[in-house]
Amino acid sequence: MMNRFAPLLAHAETVKDRHILDLFAAAPERARDFAAEAGPFLFDYSKTNIDAAGLALLIDLAETTGVAERRAAMFAGAKINETENRAVLHTAWRSPAESILVDGHDVMPPLRATLARMGAFATALREGRYTGQGGAITDVVNIGIGGSDLGPAMAALACTAFATGPRLHFVSNVDGAHIHDTLAGLNPETTLVIVASKTFTTIETMTNAETARVWMAEVVKTPATQFAAISSAVDKTAAFGIPPERVFGFEDWVGGRYSVWSPIGLSLMIGIGPEAFARFQAGAAAMDAHFLNAPFSANLPVLLALVGLWHNQVLGHATRAVLPYEQRLARLPAYLQQLEMESNGKRVSMDGADLPYHSGPVVWGEPGTNGQHAFYQLIHQGTRVVPCEFIVTARGLEPDLEHQHLLLVANCLAQSEALLRGRSLEDATAIMRKKGLEGAELERQARHRVFPGNRPSTTLLFDQLTPETLGGLIALYEHRVFVEGVILGINSFDQWGVELGKELALALAPVLEGKADGAAKDGSTRALAERIRELRGL
Ligand code: F6P
Repeated sequence: MMNRFAPLLAHAETVKDRHILDLFAAAPERARDFAAEAGPFLFDYSKTNIDAAGLALLIDLAETTGVAERRAAMFAGAKINETENRAVLHTAWRSPAESILVDGHDVMPPLRATLARMGAFATALREGRYTGQGGAITDVVNIGIGGSDLGPAMAALACTAFATGPRLHFVSNVDGAHIHDTLAGLNPETTLVIVASKTFTTIETMTNAETARVWMAEVVKTPATQFAAISSAVDKTAAFGIPPERVFGFEDWVGGRYSVWSPIGLSLMIGIGPEAFARFQAGAAAMDAHFLNAPFSANLPVLLALVGLWHNQVLGHATRAVLPYEQRLARLPAYLQQLEMESNGKRVSMDGADLPYHSGPVVWGEPGTNGQHAFYQLIHQGTRVVPCEFIVTARGLEPDLEHQHLLLVANCLAQSEALLRGRSLEDATAIMRKKGLEGAELERQARHRVFPGNRPSTTLLFDQLTPETLGGLIALYEHRVFVEGVILGINSFDQWGVELGKELALALAPVLEGKADGAAKDGSTRALAERIRELRGL
């Protein structure tokens, strides 16, 4: 397979050592030229080493690798998830389209009917018409993992200021401590449990669901009335004992990590209400329209993808920090880790050939300003360059606390400025000299206070975090991952890399219980299993 980044690699060779500040000096309009807008979002990528020639090469890459064709195919319901022979149509759940055909069938009427059923259920529950044994539902526990947890959990936290319904809780880990601690404070008589699993076979979710059922059955006479299920495998939900009226199905063409718009978002809908949920979807639909219609040079998902590829595949920066200056986006990095790394962490191309370049980057992060007091040290002065993606809102949602939000925003801008500008040895020396140092000690101390600068970052700015802007933000990232995947030539919509560990865990459980022989295991695994058996008294 040809390295499609070859022209960019050659270009990078000629520019990689220059200072980004020099680009600003040479082109006073750089902040305008290397920025783009979509609805409420402004994406500024001027604090990177991309110049006009580099941008042209990047856009050329998007054009020649078939991004536009693949985008059209995705929205039209073609089976672009080739290793699973599935369409990729999470966008249908937020689409205003009258009809979308998959295998000749219009998927929109059943989808609209399910959304209406979800809305009716959520409203009945919120208004106290659908009750538990002890009266109105006060708490909703969503049991799911991966895409059946991260999306709604991230979005529920992001929409805290819009929460008007029962309290929401999310249980994902198979570690019994998670469900134990969550249920500990809840009244089973006024709790609804949602079992969210696309396949309805995921061991973590099924184990936690069973634990929740036992917990509820101790007090509630008909626990099934306080359970709802979300799945693509509706036959399995019946076997678990959840009646069809509280089962909300979706098709297998919605990937788990793309499913927050589907019934997987039911907990969020209950928490913020169907109208706010519709605004969340509308924000995403607006981003879909932008992605479909804007030219690549002004297309936010395309530009985010291209900047990411420039940093990872071209300049070789293996990780990307996502840094939301918005505490309610605290779960966004975790959500993006699944979205980006499960989608684009692939070592072979669509046709099975080894990739001649790296797959998607390691994505990580924490909200600012907290991260500043933890890992930013490495970002500023470590030996590796970590491209930073700042996400910031101009205004908070607490009018009385705007002075705090202003400080938050100032910190965000200060960080990207510091990364860009750095602090020279001369400046550091002058500062230390003013403090009274001189000679060899002055030199030594000054060197510790040098910031190399010239470190790239982008800033995504919007006004406020609302259900609409959250929807747009998530759709932006979904499409960015899609574009990156197309350019890398991989299938972003399967996840075979999670299977091996699942299989081995199933085989190891009986070994740990002493019921199966672990002789065929490697020495380390065997020794650890032995020690665990000892510690567990087996
Ligand atoms: O193991 C990975 C994965 O399949 C994710 O892709 C998915 O989001 C998660 O597990 C949960 O799957 P399910 O919704 O089927 O329980």
